[in-house]
Amino acid sequence: MNKVETSFLHKNQFGDDFLWGVSTAAFQIEGAPDTDGKGRSIWDVFTSQKGKIKNGHHALTACDFYNSYQNDIDLIRELNIPNFRFSISWPRIMPSGVSPINEAGIAYYNKIIDSLLSAGIEPWITLYHWDLPHDLELKGGWTNRESVSWFSAYVAVCVQHFGDRVKNWMVINEPSVFTGAGYFLGIHAPGKKGITNYLKAMHHVTLATTAGAKIIRNHIPDAHIGTTFSCTHIEPATSSSKDVEAAKRVDTLLNRTFIEPILGLGYPQADLPVLKKLNAYIVEDDLNNLSFDFDFIGLQCYTREVVKSSLLIPYIGAELISAEKRNVISTDMGWEVYPPALYQVLKKFNAYEGIRKIIITENGAAFPDTLKNGKVYDIKRTHYIQDHLEQILKAKKDGLAVDGYFVWTLTDNFEWAEGYNARFGLIHVDFDTQQRTIKHSGLWFKDFLS
Ligand code: FCB
Repeated sequence: MNKVETSFLHKNQFGDDFLWGVSTAAFQIEGAPDTDGKGRSIWDVFTSQKGKIKNGHHALTACDFYNSYQNDIDLIRELNIPNFRFSISWPRIMPSGVSPINEAGIAYYNKIIDSLLSAGIEPWITLYHWDLPHDLELKGGWTNRESVSWFSAYVAVCVQHFGDRVKNWMVINEPSVFTGAGYFLGIHAPGKKGITNYLKAMHHVTLATTAGAKIIRNHIPDAHIGTTFSCTHIEPATSSSKDVEAAKRVDTLLNRTFIEPILGLGYPQADLPVLKKLNAYIVEDDLNNLSFDFDFIGLQCYTREVVKSSLLIPYIGAELISAEKRNVISTDMGWEVYPPALYQVLKKFNAYEGIRKIIITENGAAFPDTLKNGKVYDIKRTHYIQDHLEQILKAKKDGLAVDGYFVWTLTDNFEWAEGYNARFGLIHVDFDTQQRTIKHSGLWFKDFLS
């Protein structure tokens, strides 16, 4: 195959120990929603409801990873990607969310783990990437304090069955996104709304994160334990004190609310007064159970947001000015392409003393790809990745810690409420035939990693 030279970046510049990988999530790729005893998840239910997903798309087949995982693992190897991040579907392991265990679900993930290891690819498991068992949602889902015990029991099953071979674990994926979109705005599963649902979910998810991490630590003493946060560089629209204050509140909400309790700093209530309402749900020992000494923190950064003050928006008094309104280059998600955001986010999180190690566990872009003569020339995605890697190098040069980079994502997949139109993959998927085609970005990454 011809070399795909489009930049002067070289893997060696990042150091020998730098971790390279690709990230996925069960619901976005697996399909097979009720095969081999799997229970329904909140996303199975949400996608079956009218008007929730763009173009009425659903994830009944998605990328058919449930059946064609071997083919995709072969592709990961072909791309020279040494680390694969995937999530476990809780309702595959425990169909109703609590015992009994579904042995077929355990067997499925065992096959994936074994196949990865025999291909020389290191497995990285995310325990929760948004697909809560629906039966638990019927009992209130994350708004129910019992969710902490449900989740703990599920984590114990996973570490018991997979912990002999898997050392890299991430407890929860992007708590701010799934609690915000799923329990406050209602635009993601389970479609709940309102400040009470949101704050309860926030507190229980935070408790579940540390409870889950402790269980991993107890079962697998040499585990490499992390959890992942969505983070966005925030800037005020103007230098007026109103906009600066509004930007600070949005920054607190999007970047600080979930990590600070985990680092032992408590909820940042002083900078976002609505968080004081959390006190109604904090009981007894909670404050002692909110923190955990993670081996690494996964940061997932795609863009920046520009913020102006707005009296119309409750609780936060701020509004995001869209990339479209600002007339800047953006992706199919409407997210501004702004690579320096990654540098800024690294700088921000490096300033926390309690963080031992930072890995970029997601970064990537959705662009409208076209398959022509068996090729996808997605040069914008290639440049997006290269430009973000340049920011990592700049951060390293400035002495900021960053130890790995995982591209989102391997194949085009089911992008939640956006359906299949937002294509993020290094590999193109024809969703009618399940045909895979490595895109230019994938070929570049392969060369880069060789
Ligand atoms: C992140 C999610 C991931 C994917 C990317 C584009 O917020 O963790 O599942 O949807 O965004």
